[in-house]
Amino acid sequence: MSNIVPAALSGGIMEYDESVAAHYGSGGTLERLLSLVRDAGGDPEHFAPAALRGTDQLHIGGPAATSRVAERAGIGPGTRVVDIGSGLGGVARHLAGDCGATVHGVDLTAEFVAAATDLTQRTGLAGSVEFTQGSALDLPFTDALFDAAVVIHVGMNIRDKDRMFAEAARVLRPGGVLAVYDVMLLGGDVEVYPLPWATTPQTSFPQPPLAYSDSMGQAGLEVDREAKTLAEGIEFLERALNGGGPVGLDRAALGNLLEAFRAGLLAPVEIYAHRVG
Ligand SMILES: C[S@@+](CC[C@H](N)C(=O)[O-])C[C@H]1O[C@@H](n2cnc3c(N)ncnc32)[C@H](O)[C@@H]1O
Repeated sequence: MSNIVPAALSGGIMEYDESVAAHYGSGGTLERLLSLVRDAGGDPEHFAPAALRGTDQLHIGGPAATSRVAERAGIGPGTRVVDIGSGLGGVARHLAGDCGATVHGVDLTAEFVAAATDLTQRTGLAGSVEFTQGSALDLPFTDALFDAAVVIHVGMNIRDKDRMFAEAARVLRPGGVLAVYDVMLLGGDVEVYPLPWATTPQTSFPQPPLAYSDSMGQAGLEVDREAKTLAEGIEFLERALNGGGPVGLDRAALGNLLEAFRAGLLAPVEIYAHRVG
């Protein structure tokens, strides 16, 4: 895509960004994913995205949740999508491979951007999916470039939701759709760490759905739909604790999140909105 603003013009990586990137990019993720393919009898040089069995999708519900989000956001053949906080690229490859979208992922974590790019080449999707290292708070794109923006399990790391949604709105065309699927705060305070997105409160900012929708409203985004998927979240975490989850998960973090779900403190929530005007 030609309308990318070079990283040098879009602001430097700050200390907070480095803490987030250090949390996620602890090394060896690509090798772990390639061994999964090899162990299942596949060729790690060339394989279908499904060979990763959703372990490259770092959110509750994995590929099933991504399909639901895509359907609710109206993502289909030819939709130009920005995947904000694209992680290992599993969501972007899913939206391209299963829905026919063209996707540009942006993520702070250099190791994840490199792994996402590598996996996308190996799965033959490089013609429709690409990745750039950058911040959700300073997206490296010109205005009104995308039909849809997805933010999946990223907002928990971002204190300044106003700025995140202002940036998402800026890069969406008028009428473009924003789909957010995050773990949100339903009551009380989060006191027990680690959680899957942070080992300490310094980089953890879960907020209530109302805080999200207020920030969206300020950014010129009108909310169309909100859905909580707590039962599915609990079931997914129970399965993940038995070895069926995304790559690289910390059992203590998963257990703490499960307890917070059961206590009604946190829950997975989807919010869909569109850019007005
Ligand atoms: C839990 S992972 C989710 C990845 C992906 N959305 C998925 O569902 O597979 C969160 C990702 O958000 C990225 N992230 C956190 N804060 C960010 C920010 N301010 N800008 C860009 N990416 C960010 C992290 O580097 C990490 O890759």
